[in-house]
Formats: sequence, structure tokens, C-alpha cells
Amino acid sequence: AIDTSALYKTEHLTTYDPGFQSTAACRSAVSFVDGEAGRLTYRGYPIEELAARCDFLQVAALLLKGELPGAEEMREFRSRIVHHTMVHQQVSLLLNGFRRDAHPMSILVGLIGALAAFYPLDPAMSEQEQHREAALMMIAKMPTLVAMSYRYSMGWPLEYPDNRLSYAANFLKMMFALPVEPYEPKPAAVKAVDTLFILHAEHEQNASTSTVRLCASAGANPYQAVAAGVACLSGPRHGGANESALRMLESLRAAGGVKAIPDFIRRVKAKETRLIGFGHRVYKHYDPRARIIRNICHELIDELGLRDDPTYALALELERIALEDDYFIERHLYPNVDFYSGIVQRAIGIPTPLFTAIFAIARTVGWFAQKNELLESNDLRLARPRQVYTGSPLRHLPETLP
Ligand code: ACO
Repeated sequence: AIDTSALYKTEHLTTYDPGFQSTAACRSAVSFVDGEAGRLTYRGYPIEELAARCDFLQVAALLLKGELPGAEEMREFRSRIVHHTMVHQQVSLLLNGFRRDAHPMSILVGLIGALAAFYPLDPAMSEQEQHREAALMMIAKMPTLVAMSYRYSMGWPLEYPDNRLSYAANFLKMMFALPVEPYEPKPAAVKAVDTLFILHAEHEQNASTSTVRLCASAGANPYQAVAAGVACLSGPRHGGANESALRMLESLRAAGGVKAIPDFIRRVKAKETRLIGFGHRVYKHYDPRARIIRNICHELIDELGLRDDPTYALALELERIALEDDYFIERHLYPNVDFYSGIVQRAIGIPTPLFTAIFAIARTVGWFAQKNELLESNDLRLARPRQVYTGSPLRHLPETLP
């Protein structure tokens, strides 16, 4: 450990670490990515155990509170989430102002940022209490907002939440129910969505979480901090990768399917393109979430009778070839969570542009767990990175300006 106390006073030493490859920006007890062991834990519990034995709201309560809630505490948590699933009627008027072909992530950033204007914070509460309250509101409203964005793009009437259903089943119903026929979400689809939510709920100091923490350090409104997180998540090198992965598979299909793989791999090796859904900054062995989602994907495909789906077959073959290829072996490139999550979502009927929005529903929990941890810690101070200045030395304007 290095004693940095002197640095605060002198300000002479600045580390330069593009992309934060080896700089810890905070201390956190929420989750841990052990890249060497290929292990992910939430509050110490392995992701495999949580995905197998808990539902998403239990995991949300664990991440926010630090411990698994008891039965009574969990009932209270669920009922408080259910209490907030509706959104203000005026939000739908705002929705009507967007183009119907706008990307759902663009709509979501706008709607979430605007929630600050619909749900003013209670000035009688402390900043920490305001953020704890906002966490419940946001976790409850995210599925409603995402489903609203989808239905708007389809020109369908909005669907109210059905609070008798589980969090995942309610989301599917809000997405796909139509007034003309009864809609019953398939149990396999509910299970797959719930697992996707658990796997995406938290991932320590990723780009969007760091964005949200940075906003919180400035004292930003909690809804606006989440809007910033959603904006960051939309990037194709981060949350947008699931959408890009499926688009990659679709373009491979259009180029000839399995026959097109060798040429694609050649282009990857020539650095003309990347195999999206492979590689990770921290995991240098298999991403544990990828293994779980891969199994869920196989189960769902069987359940829905989609074994012959050409995109699925293509993904299997592409993964097999890449895992046997020296280029990928030498660079420790394995499938990440995004390789299969797109196929799962597509099988459920979720349109590709909505994939990252679904990721955002889940990650809202992690954003709040991390942000609230910062606000409640002794480490809270305005985040203000330094730079290595590479511009002109001091100079002065000429007598006459050009
Ligand atoms: N396809 C082909 N080559 C790759 C890939 C890939 N997906 N990922 C890394 N490489 C290669 C690089 O070309 C580089 O090769 P070189 O040493 O010959 O120059 C080497 O592996 C190291 O790559 P970096 O970009 O330095 O690794 P980094 O840790 O910065 O990248 C990243 C991580 C951005 C995720 C990268 O693996 C990537 O672009 N993957 C595809 C996009 C993706 O799937 N993103 C989702 C991440 S998970 C998430 O956000 C939920």
C-alpha cells in the first residue's frame, strides 16, 4: 500500500492511467469481479447460487441492503416496489413528443431524466433518505418506462402494470399484452427474463456505474444520475454490445451463415472487425454470467421449439470455432454475457433495439446500490479526475486578432 496523504497537500504527483486499467476509483462492498478465477459475487454470494435460488427482487434487496432480507422484510420490499410501478400520466404526454422510430435508449434517457421534474425529492429527508426512496421508485418504474417506449414505437395503447405478477412476468405482460387477446407470459420466458435481470443487476465499477457514482459525488438528482448511467450504458463497447452481437450474427446469416464464418474470423484477425460478445476487460477466463445465460438459452430454445433457429445454430458454431482458434486462446477471449443474451431476448420476442434497455432495468439496482454506498460513506467527495496537459504552453493573443 502506498501512503498518499502527502499527495493531497503537494498535488505534484498525478498518475496517468487511460481507461482506469489499474486505478481504483473507490472502495466498495457491493460486488466483486475476480477476473482470474472467473468469479462474480454480489455481497459475497456467487452469481451461480443467486441465479439458481433467488428471484430478481430478492437479489435487488440483497444488493441495496447488504444482507439477504428475512421473509417479512422481503414482503415489505416487494410491496413497496409494487406500490410505485405506475408512472405519472404526464410522462405519456412527454412520450408522445418523441419520433416513433427513435432508439428506445434515447427515449429512456429523456424519460428518466424528466422523472426528476415529476417526482420532486422530499426536502424534509436527508440526501441519503432521498436516494433510498428514489431507488424503490426507479426499480419499480423502469419496466413500465421500457414497456411504454416499446409500445409507443409499435403504435400500441399503453398497458398498465399488473401488480399480482412477478417483476419479470409483469414486465413481459406490459410489453406484449394486446387488448384483443389474453396474454399469459410463458414460464420459461419469465424465468429467462428474471435470470437476465439477476445477471445484469451489478458489476462493480463498470463505465455506467462509474458515471452514476460521479454524478452522485456532485450531489446530482438521483433520477438524473440514472439517466446519465443509461446514456453511458448505451455505448456499443458497454451495454450496447448485446444489440451489436445480434446484429453481427444477423449480418453473418445474410452473408451465407455458417459458410461465412471463416472469412469473418479472417477479418477479425486482420483487426477489420471484432467478434462482438467475446472478450472482457476484467474476465480473462470464461465470464461466469455467460455460462449461466448459455444454459438458460439452451433451455429456452428447447422449450420454445427453436432448435432449428438459424441464428442460434450460427452462434453455436461461431463460439465453437473461436474457442478452438489460437488468436482467441492467446488473448484470453471467451464469450461474455452479451454473446447469448441477445439470442435469449430474441427468442422471447424482444426486438433488438430494446436489448440494452432491458439491461438498464436490471442495472438500475447496481447503480443505486453503488451510488447510495458512496453517499453513505466517509469517502464522499466530489470526483474530479486530473489530467496530463498536452496543449500549448502559455501564450498571448496577438495585437491584432486575425
Ligand atoms: N474480437 C477480436 N479481438 C479482440 C476482441 C474481440 N471481441 N476483444 C479483444 N480483442 C483483441 C484486441 O484486438 C487486442 O489484440 P492485440 O493484443 O493483438 O492488439 C487484444 O484482444 C486485447 O484487446 P483490448 O481491446 O486491449 O482489451 P480490452 O480489455 O480493452 O477490451 C472489450 C475489452 C472492449 C470488451 C473488448 O474485448 C471488445 O471490444 N469486445 C467486443 C465488445 C463486447 O463484447 N463488449 C461487451 C463487454 S461486456 C459488457 O459490457 C456487459
